[in-house]
Amino acid sequence: MTAAPPDVGSARRAFPPGFVWGTATAAYQIEGAVAEDGRTPSIWDTFSHTPGRVDGGHTGDIAVDHYHRFREDVRTMAELGLASYRFSLSWPRIRPGGRGPASRRGLDFYRRLTDDLLAHGITPVATLYHWDLPQDLEAAGGWPERETAYRFAEYAALAAEALGDRVPTWITLNEPWCSAFLGYGSGVHAPGRTDPGDALRAAHHLNLGHGLAVGALRAALPASAKVAVSLNLHVVRPLNDRPEDLEAARRIDAVGNRIWTGPMFGGRYDEDLLKDTAHLVDWDELVHEGDLTEISRPIDLLGLNYYNPTVVSAAPADAEGRPREDGHGAGAFSPWPGADGVAFHRANDDLTAMGWPIDPTGLSDALLDMHRRFGLPLIVTENGAAFQDTVSADGTVHDPERTAYLRRHLDAVADAIEAGADVRGYFLWSLLDNFEWAYGYDKRFGIVRVDYDTLERTPKSSARWYSEVIRRGGLD
Ligand code: FCB
Repeated sequence: MTAAPPDVGSARRAFPPGFVWGTATAAYQIEGAVAEDGRTPSIWDTFSHTPGRVDGGHTGDIAVDHYHRFREDVRTMAELGLASYRFSLSWPRIRPGGRGPASRRGLDFYRRLTDDLLAHGITPVATLYHWDLPQDLEAAGGWPERETAYRFAEYAALAAEALGDRVPTWITLNEPWCSAFLGYGSGVHAPGRTDPGDALRAAHHLNLGHGLAVGALRAALPASAKVAVSLNLHVVRPLNDRPEDLEAARRIDAVGNRIWTGPMFGGRYDEDLLKDTAHLVDWDELVHEGDLTEISRPIDLLGLNYYNPTVVSAAPADAEGRPREDGHGAGAFSPWPGADGVAFHRANDDLTAMGWPIDPTGLSDALLDMHRRFGLPLIVTENGAAFQDTVSADGTVHDPERTAYLRRHLDAVADAIEAGADVRGYFLWSLLDNFEWAYGYDKRFGIVRVDYDTLERTPKSSARWYSEVIRRGGLD
């Protein structure tokens, strides 16, 4: 008699009714058409055109040409049964140069896109800032300058006035940690500056921009609209429980996480963070009267972007000043101002093509922790993986590693929900292979393959699998 197949945890895991299944993208990573319809350059245009900044010299000039092919991409989403689509608005497309009136042609693109999504029954979720600061605002000082926060709120108002009738959920910032600390600290992201004081100033002004934008959105949007932020909160784990490792974890939690959640949800910067960074920035001068009230305006949903946990220890003395590993590549400069003397470790050796360890427990831990601390409804606004895909002779792409990654992470979301976290949705990163920032096009995160010669799209087997999960409303 043949034995029954082993039970590999096949109990059906249903997600709550109304759980939103989606995918996510960002403007610069997919749109292309960088000089069309009045769009001006963003810091990523400048950065990617600077030799040596992006692997292979790749740029977003064409990207996956979503600007011209969005109808095909919306059709694909509809075929897969997606309920929602998180995309970002390009600031220099909507407000060229970062100042002055809105561009009708720029807004028209997002009108066409959102109308098409709605016509296919897909709910749009718009992110205002996914890293494409207008270059003109960087020339005026960028995020280290307070003025940038005001320009951001004005742009938020223009976008909400034009699109508020059709976009029910708005996200202010995507991963401000990356904007501040990779953009102005380690310099591996645009604009590529490397000053720890500027990185901290950028962090405060991103916070302020968020708060001001929440106010601007509330003023322009219908009362039913939901306002959120997407944070890549680091799941910080000490390597050992030695006091110096716990201290390393405290520092990384301060400058990685609490620098955002402190002001946004508690109306304060924690004392330990201020102390760790006091030699780098004058916080009394930086934080004006009223800023913290502005930043802590209530929001409706908290978005988490999760890829891998962050394991830290105290660095041995000889490691001081060495380049360190972080989730987005190592640079000669630290993306962790005020946290010198911390060493970063891999959580395990089960790695994606990014070299990021696969550890779904970080996702359930993060969701539960956020639920307990902030009590807000949560959404996973990004989660997914890059792998070296191969195209079969018949043109199909079979990507079991990506499917396994997604299955395990959805299981972790279900764990968090079972343990009480109020998680409302999951947005898979990403719909399409795309421009992976400083890594260029070689790292493929899509569930739909893009052939970069022909721009032809082919859903991978992970897309079919995700579609099935959506149809069933959960995992089998
Ligand atoms: C996140 C970014 C997103 C994408 C993924 C892989 O940090 O928000 O644009 O690059 O990483």
